[in-house]
Amino acid sequence: MRFTLGICLIIGALFSYAAGVDPNNFKTCEQSSFCKRSRKVQSTGSKYAIIPGTLNSYADSLTADLVNKDNHHQFTFKLEALMGNTFRLQIDEKNPLRPRYRVEHALKGKPATTQIRVQESQGVLSITAGNSKAVIHGDPFHIEFYEDDVHVVTVNAKNWLYFEHLRQKAAVQTEGAEGAEAQDANPDAIQPPAETHEDPGAWEENFKSHHDSKPYGPEAVALDFAFPAAEVLFGIPEHADSFVLKSTSGTDPYRLYNLDVFEYVVDSKMALYGSVPVLYGHGSQRTAGVYWQNAAETWVDIHTAETNVVSSLVNFVSGTRKTPPPSAHFMSESGIVDAFIMLGPKPIDVFKQYAGLTGTHELPQLFALAYHQSRWNYNDERDVATVSAKFDEFNMPMDTMWLDIEYTDGKRYFTWDKFKFPDSLAMVKNLTDLGRHLVVIIDPHIKRDNAYFFHNDCTEQGYYIKTRDGNDYEGWCWPGSASYPDFFNPVVREYYASQYELSKFKTVTADVMLWNDMNEPSVFNGPEVTAPKDLVHFGNWEHRDVHNLYGHMHIMGTFAGLLKRDPNQRPFILTRSHFAGSQRYAAIWTGDNLADWAHLQHSIKMCLTEAVAGFSFCGADVGGFFGNPEAELLERWYQTGIFLPFFRAHAHIDTKRREPWLFPERTRQIIRSALLKRYSYLPLWYTSFYELEKTGAPVIRPMLTHYPHDKEAFGIDSQLLVQQRLLVRPVMQQGVSKVDVYFPAIDDKKNGDYWYDVDTFERQERAGYVSVPVTEYKIPVWQRGGSIVPKKERLRRSAPLMLHDPYTLIVCLDRHGKADGTLYLDDEKSYKYRDGEHIYVNYEFEQNQLRNNFIGKPKYKSNAWIERVVIAGLQLVPKSATITVNGVSQQLEVEQQGNAVIVRKPGVKMDVDFALKLNY
Ligand SMILES: *[C@@H]1O[C@H](CO)[C@@H](O)[C@H](O)[C@H]1NC(C)=O
Repeated sequence: MRFTLGICLIIGALFSYAAGVDPNNFKTCEQSSFCKRSRKVQSTGSKYAIIPGTLNSYADSLTADLVNKDNHHQFTFKLEALMGNTFRLQIDEKNPLRPRYRVEHALKGKPATTQIRVQESQGVLSITAGNSKAVIHGDPFHIEFYEDDVHVVTVNAKNWLYFEHLRQKAAVQTEGAEGAEAQDANPDAIQPPAETHEDPGAWEENFKSHHDSKPYGPEAVALDFAFPAAEVLFGIPEHADSFVLKSTSGTDPYRLYNLDVFEYVVDSKMALYGSVPVLYGHGSQRTAGVYWQNAAETWVDIHTAETNVVSSLVNFVSGTRKTPPPSAHFMSESGIVDAFIMLGPKPIDVFKQYAGLTGTHELPQLFALAYHQSRWNYNDERDVATVSAKFDEFNMPMDTMWLDIEYTDGKRYFTWDKFKFPDSLAMVKNLTDLGRHLVVIIDPHIKRDNAYFFHNDCTEQGYYIKTRDGNDYEGWCWPGSASYPDFFNPVVREYYASQYELSKFKTVTADVMLWNDMNEPSVFNGPEVTAPKDLVHFGNWEHRDVHNLYGHMHIMGTFAGLLKRDPNQRPFILTRSHFAGSQRYAAIWTGDNLADWAHLQHSIKMCLTEAVAGFSFCGADVGGFFGNPEAELLERWYQTGIFLPFFRAHAHIDTKRREPWLFPERTRQIIRSALLKRYSYLPLWYTSFYELEKTGAPVIRPMLTHYPHDKEAFGIDSQLLVQQRLLVRPVMQQGVSKVDVYFPAIDDKKNGDYWYDVDTFERQERAGYVSVPVTEYKIPVWQRGGSIVPKKERLRRSAPLMLHDPYTLIVCLDRHGKADGTLYLDDEKSYKYRDGEHIYVNYEFEQNQLRNNFIGKPKYKSNAWIERVVIAGLQLVPKSATITVNGVSQQLEVEQQGNAVIVRKPGVKMDVDFALKLNY
């Protein structure tokens, strides 16, 4: 019967892609008993208080005991001050029946703490650390957080703290769902705590045909956070929704539960493949954030007055808030309260504080930032060779070919289909010779086949996730009957990592990179298409406790494997499932989207949210996974995709082939010109990723990042910034001849930055909406006045072949005739940059002169040089230019071209000091 269900789902997956997601396959809050119980507290409130006399203060922290005044159960509470304006709050049971799960592996390391100063006055305790302060109120328990004396966060503002302590199941508990009253009739039953009328789903729960045995009973944790200085909330990916979170009053909460959602719909609070429980509150004066570190199923209610112009005007005029501050209510099924409160004060500060906790993607190899060509599936070696050759024939750059599940021998990972791919090494070599790469998929479901070494190893060694009664769990996925390695066990991760070594995986080379899909994990016949919650992991933890971390542990294993395979090459991994911290190992994409305009628009909204939650390396399937995009949609999708960090075309097995040259000449040219634009900006992407690794500042950013005071900019999610250099507003509607672009204000007088159209250098000088005409070729992008952007403008078939190509510097001047910008370069492949083998330079233009300032010593030997300097925003056209290197000067030609001035062939090497002066 299980199999039949599985087969139905597979058939559904293959043949029904006009239908869209069936929401009935996924739980609502009402159908999830802990969500229902935790949410109920919103009407009753709770009563927690610090027990007087239990306070202890230490150099960097403070502890106390808490009591639930309704049932007298006791808890421990710890508040710790961390470096970088951050506090960590932990609440656990004082004496739990069994230990409660604490998330591991999400943080990049143990956060450094900082000294506190404790003061008490009138029963209120304040803790000061640097610029930040926590004020703790004992009864009712709540904590106010201040940044430089501005109140930015309150924990338990509404008394919605809810902590279900572990209990013994009543001696006689009704088995079925009906009859909580039955207990009352039995005088021998241990009574549940007075405050709860036992919820029928508390001790076991059914969803559709699935039963959750819940051996440990109810164990939810929930807490509310208010943001008094904020007007909008954002974060908690992954949802196909707007950047600014919507109020959940009258709807389900946002859900965080990693799921394989088939044909997800947009404008939805439903859970998707990843869960990153970090949320930010932003107002024009302050930005703060909360990272709710919990890997169990989580729902988040958002309480905001839907922002409208009138109410914000009232607030502005009266200076007082007429509505309660926006707040978020986190509700998790198990675990403890472990919350990081990040106090900013500016948006970029909070993003960096979060990156300080959970890490960043490291600098990828350059090829990973170039164009990826994928589909389910490239069928055989000839198909791969042909696609690669066609890109050359049509003069389109392409870096990476991808192979989906069909390359394997019957979905047995680490094997190849020998008929379709008899000589994978020759195929890889043919790609590598052109500077191209191959990525292959390896999923976590393991085919249960006695002739498959991986399955035999896992069975013999006990490496699979177990059922409650100790057997290997069997689910149904691509290979048919499958089991799932327990990556939480370090021994399993080690075994898994070693499979990537070339002595074992002989049919690939160290240049072949990895795609880890289906790692929510996807189980076709499981509850909500995933693993049952009462499965048992390493350490005796339930799947319930760790679900959202499963994919994270999987990619940790892959990352370790790729480093084992070749410690000198930076690994590239793409993952679908992700949790806080997964950005340290992999890039992500937005999963199985649809070929329609709404999904194109959501690619930007979703990646902006991911970027502020640590995942700068984000993209969406160009063209849409399901369905066949018409030419216009595909063109616009390429034009949008080139400005997201991860840029890959991908398509479902049932879609028509859609490699760009298959379309008419006009479409080919439009796509080709978009590809060339992507490649021309690779130096900017690469520099941005280096700076992400160094500082934690996202590569792509919502407008509010750099225009925090401009309320109009808060909700804008149809345009993005690349660092603080480019403003991108792609065309994402059908048949339009103009788009509305918002140029953000830098002050209350609606002054804006200068913005230069990157194609024409026409300048926008004022903030506000501008209707910009567009052609089918036009990608509306502006460079900020005051910035310098490095580019490479020669066409090659792949990015590694551009290593020694010369650079063009685009200098766009601000109101004062100044600009600056960094460039980073190295060997684009190895870890030698960690030993300083790189060139990192800041270019500065002022008083008609361009200079370079090296950041650190330039230690990488590059053959590249500066070919061209383009300057926009000069008052007058100079007669000539003089470049001076090592005291030797040389005259250069200057040419006016439209709205810019071009200085040709400065010819200077990248690691040499120079000054380039314009002559009038
Ligand atoms: C590799 O390229 C050579 C030369 O074009 C060709 O003959 C061969 O079939 C290719 N091998 C594979 C496996 O694609």
